[in-house]
Formats: sequence, C-alpha cells, structure tokens
Amino acid sequence: MNLNKNKIRAVYPGSFDPVTNGHICIAQRAAEIFDEVIVAILMNTQKDPSFSVEERQQMTEEALVDINNVQVCAFSGLLVNFMQSLGSKVIIRGLRAMSDFEYEFQMALMNRQLAPDIETFFIVTEPQYSYLSSSAVKNVFQFGGDISSMVPDCVRNRMKNRIHEYPNQIIKNRTKPFE
Ligand code: COA
Repeated sequence: MNLNKNKIRAVYPGSFDPVTNGHICIAQRAAEIFDEVIVAILMNTQKDPSFSVEERQQMTEEALVDINNVQVCAFSGLLVNFMQSLGSKVIIRGLRAMSDFEYEFQMALMNRQLAPDIETFFIVTEPQYSYLSSSAVKNVFQFGGDISSMVPDCVRNRMKNRIHEYPNQIIKNRTKPFE
C-alpha cells in the first residue's frame, strides 16, 4: 500500500470584514486536517465592506501568523476559477447554525455545478462562536460593547483606530464611549 499522496491545499473563502475568533477557529482546525490552507478574501463582494481588502488581509494575516501552513490572499471573480489557478480542490466553509445551511448548501451545489472536481468541506463551529458574525461584532462595537472575546486584539485595535479616523464608517449613533 502506498500511503504517499500529494499535499492537499484547501481554500477557506469569505469576506472576513473583519476576521473574527469564529473564523480563526475554523482556519486552525482546517490547518490540522489539510497540508495547506489558503484563507481567501473576496474583493468584489456585493456587500459594502467596512474595511478595504488590504486591511482585511492584513488583519487576517496578523491573526493567523502563528499557524505555519496557513496563508492569506485576496481574490476576485468566481471562487472556482481562483481555486483552479491554485490547483486546489477543497473549499472549507464553517457552519454555525441550521440557518447557514440553506445558503451554504446552495453555494456548494453551485460550485459543484461549475467545477465538479471541487468539493466543499464543512467544519461545524465551536458553540461559543455560533452566534458570531462580522456584522454582529461591528454592531456591538458601534454601541460600545465589549468585543474582546469575539475578535483578536489586532482587529479590535484596528476598529478603535478606525473610529478615530473615520467615525462614520463603522460607528453610527455611538452612545457609549470606548474604554
Ligand atoms: N465565525 C464567525 N462568523 C462567521 C463564520 C464563523 N465561523 N462563518 C461565517 N461567518 C459570518 C461572516 O462573518 C459573515 O458575516 P457578515 O454577513 O455579518 O459579514 C457571514 O457569516 C457570511 O460571510 P462569509 O463566510 O464571509 O461568506 P460571504 O457570503 O460573505 O462570502 C464567498 C462567501 C466569498 C465564499 C462567496 O460569496 C463566493 O465564493 N464569492 C465569489 C463568487 C462566486 O464564486 N460565486 C459562485 C458561488 S455562489
């Protein structure tokens, strides 16, 4: 039996606007399973991101710096085209709750239709992150809530700086001062 096989490169795509502890947990767990994990930040998102793609990439790189087999990059266009350019056949997605399922199921089928040799792998989130989303973090922050258990320090610091530079981009109607 020949157990040698090619290294498997997986891609974990998303908006990461900004990266949260929930995303980090998924990336860490994927890195334990696959030889290489590329965290791929979508550039031309239909969403209106709070952070530029460069900022999102920088924060994500900083948050994942300790994991040797993880790299972060940005992409635009179809995910499957980007994956083919990297020679990757594995998409990683996190599942937080049943409410994610329908959207994820549809996306996985669409990607499968576009590229049948690419498989989607789902990693179920840790329960403590099941309520997290980037928008929820920004919303809590906007009203002065404590986000220290939700995002890495680099993101929290960036958000604080951002408020001082561009108060209207994240924070609207802020009611409580930041500590
Ligand atoms: N922890 C915390 N939050 C999580 C999470 C986790 N484990 N998993 C998902 N989320 C949150 C994100 O923070 C995000 O929150 P937000 O909406 O408040 O910003 C939300 O869940 C979903 O975001 P994300 O995982 O980034 O997905 P997306 O819908 O923004 O992007 C892509 C998904 C990038 C994979 C998809 O749009 C894509 O591939 N686009 C390229 C075009 C393409 O190929 N289209 C054809 C396929 S449909």
